[in-house]
This record gives sequence, C-alpha cells and structure tokens, in this order.
Amino acid sequence: MKDFADFREQHLPLIEKEMAAFINEYTTNDLLKEAMLYSIQAGGKRFRPLLIMAVLDSFNKQAEVADYQVSAALEMVHTYSLIHDDLPAMDDDDLRRGKPTNHKVYGEAQAILAGDGLLTAAFQLLSLSRLQADQKILLIQLLSKAAGTQGMVAGQAGDLQGEERSLSLEELVEVHEKKTGALIEFALLAGGILAQQPEVIVELLGTFAKHLGLAFQIKDDLLDATSSEAVLGKQVGRDAALHKSTYPALLGLTGAKAALEEQLTCGMAIIEEIKQTSSDFQPELLQELLEQLRLS
Ligand code: IPE
Ligand code: IPE
Ligand code: MG
Ligand code: MG
Ligand code: MG
Repeated sequence: MKDFADFREQHLPLIEKEMAAFINEYTTNDLLKEAMLYSIQAGGKRFRPLLIMAVLDSFNKQAEVADYQVSAALEMVHTYSLIHDDLPAMDDDDLRRGKPTNHKVYGEAQAILAGDGLLTAAFQLLSLSRLQADQKILLIQLLSKAAGTQGMVAGQAGDLQGEERSLSLEELVEVHEKKTGALIEFALLAGGILAQQPEVIVELLGTFAKHLGLAFQIKDDLLDATSSEAVLGKQVGRDAALHKSTYPALLGLTGAKAALEEQLTCGMAIIEEIKQTSSDFQPELLQELLEQLRLS
C-alpha cells in the first residue's frame, strides 16, 4: 500500500521550489514579487498539482522537471483565481489559507496585479518549460481553455450571476464544472498526456475529472455551510451571506451530501473502467485523493 503522506512529502517541495524559483527569477518589481509569493507560500492543499503527480504515479512514470513545471503552472493559475475570488468586488473575503487575504495585506490594486502576475507567469513558465514542443503547445492550449472564457473565468462569471437569481440545478452544475471542474480536469488530462497515455485513456481521465471536480465544489459548498474558520483557514457562511446559488442552497444539506456521494461513486466507477482498459494503471493515490473528498 502506497503511503499518501510519503507521496506528498516527496513531490510538494519540488512543486513549491518550481513556483518560487520562477517568481523570484522573472518578477522585476519587488512589491509585486512579495505579493505573489505571499499567496503562493501561504500553503493550501495543493490538490491540483498532486493530482498530476498521482496520475503519473498511477502509470508508473517517474516525475521529471517538466512535470513539476506543469504542476507549478497549474497551482499558480489556481492561486491567482483565489486572490481575485477574494476581492471585495467578488466574494469579499478576509481570510485565505489561514492568513489575511492578499488585498487585506497589499491593497486591492496590488492584489489584482499579483493575480495578473501569477496568471501570466504560469503561461510563461509553460512556454519556457522542458516539455517537448508538441506537448508544450497542447498543454498551453488545454490550460488556457481550462482557465479562461470556456472554463474558470466563465464559471466565476456564472457564479456571480447566481447571486442575483437562483440558478437551476442544471445551470449550477455548469457553473461548478467551469469555475472549479475545469482546472481539475486539466490536472487529469495533463497527467495522462505527460504519462504518454493513448487518447482513450486521456479521455477516461477527463471523465473521471468531471466527477471529481463537481464533488470538489459540492464539498466546498457543504463545508462553507457546516465547517469552521479554524478548520478551513477561510471564512465560513459566506455563500449564504452572499445569496449564492450552491448545492446546499438548492438541495439542502442532505441533498447536497447525497449529490457528493453520487459523484464520488461515479468517479470510482470510472477508475475501474480505466483499470479494465489499461493493465498498467495502478490508481491507489488517485483513489486516495478521491476518498479525501468524502465527508468525514
Ligand atoms: C478553493 O480551492 C477554491 C475552490 C475551487 C473550491 P482549494 O480548496 O483547493 O483551496 P486551497 O488551494 O487548498 O487553498
Ligand atoms: C471558488 O469558489 C472558485 C474559484 C475559481 C476560485 P468559492 O468562491 O466557493 O471558493 P472559496 O470558498 O472562496 O475558496
Ligand atoms: Mg467564489
Ligand atoms: Mg470564494
Ligand atoms: Mg466556497
């Protein structure tokens, strides 16, 4: 049985190093650099880069520098999305990753720029990475799709619209798939591509990601309604205060919990399907990451 803590300890320092080294080398304004590093080095679960590493592990591929570069780029995009998500014009949050939010420390204007810096740096890092040219172009294409107007940014726009009126469940699924699912889907697709897997496997990993991504945001919505600031390192009860459309708001806590379970079960079923398609697939760590989304 693989040990998840060992896996985390093995990969996290290298992902952290990639992010910090890039920001340090390529940011020419000291205050901007400080603000970018503030949010990057505040911790976080590092769920998305660890997903990439877990996919590589499941196909027994040794992680190389290029793999860490892709993981670092993804976490930089995610961290930018959090800085902007917390701004007064969006969710107006004071606490993130157990620390004051970026704009609370650096002011709104510098926080906006720290986010802009992280987003742009992520693509600069990918473009300068040690990937082969064809993989590089493909991954830049996929990350821009996941982060932008077909993905996270579009989802965030829908999320804000969902404060003005109650979204239907169908609309809410689409918002969740875009604002959160898209970057998680990128992690799974990138992992499959970096592990040189055939298209059929990469597609199945994408299907797995759809369930994982939806489960991730349903759990986030549930925790906002039921957990505490001390545990989450961010304010709770914000979704209700902002009248957001969420799973608990639409389906109640019991309905939202059932929806979460359903997505996790579907995710497990796709893992079984991949196992049957590829005899090389050993998904212990991926399963562990999925299990972490189960409500304890
Ligand atoms: C928070 O993401 C935003 C959502 C998409 C729900 P995470 O829960 O991954 O936040 P960190 O990175 O661990 O801080
Ligand atoms: C955030 O969703 C999704 C992003 C793209 C950042 P939330 O607004 O629910 O995330 P938290 O609860 O602030 O972390
Ligand atoms: Mg939000
Ligand atoms: Mg938020
Ligand atoms: Mg939330």
